[in-house]
Amino acid sequence: MPLETIFTIYNLVEVIWIILPAYAANGLVPLFKGKHPVDGGRKFFDGRPFLGPGKTWEGLFFGSVIGIIISIVMLTAHPYLPWDISPVPLYIAPMSIQLGFLLGFGAIIGDMAGSFIKRRLNIPRGRPAPVLDQDDFVLGSLFFASLVVAIKFEWIILALIITPIFHFIASVIAYKLKIKKEPW
Ligand code: CTP
Ligand code: MG
Repeated sequence: MPLETIFTIYNLVEVIWIILPAYAANGLVPLFKGKHPVDGGRKFFDGRPFLGPGKTWEGLFFGSVIGIIISIVMLTAHPYLPWDISPVPLYIAPMSIQLGFLLGFGAIIGDMAGSFIKRRLNIPRGRPAPVLDQDDFVLGSLFFASLVVAIKFEWIILALIITPIFHFIASVIAYKLKIKKEPW
């Protein structure tokens, strides 16, 4: 598939629309700092933590709730947004509470899968794994969303590319505003 059919403003609008509940879930869950690790402190066959203490039941619960809340905001806003300024018809995924739940829940499951991989690679909890750290939730959320809506292949590629870039820009801004200690 040629790049110019993936990098279109239409695909960009469509993918940002569907992935917003997942971005919110993934971005806001760290504020909840859960206390009950999903792996219960258990180790894998390699003797290292299954997921590590950073992946909690509270995170899974609040991630799902955040996905639902954002989906309600979006389906309320949908009729008031200027979709008809687009010269080509957009495929805007029909937002629903069910889809919002799957995006939030799927984001946190994807994030857990990322931690599972990090532990297998002997990367301790909280240490960076570039690209994997930013994109794990993207794959999880779009996979679970695909259970109820058609997901365009172009969206997946675009989301995997733009998310680490957005993350980097947001981190640099947070660093300049002194919200974060390092610019990544
Ligand atoms: N968090 C949580 N439950 C989850 C996911 C995240 O409680 N299911 C909270 C934890 O306090 C976690 C923080 O959000 O420390 C940041 O999440 P993340 O960066 O994904 O975890 P890390 O602590 O960096 O651990 P890992 O190395 O496994 O990614
Ligand atoms: Mg982390």
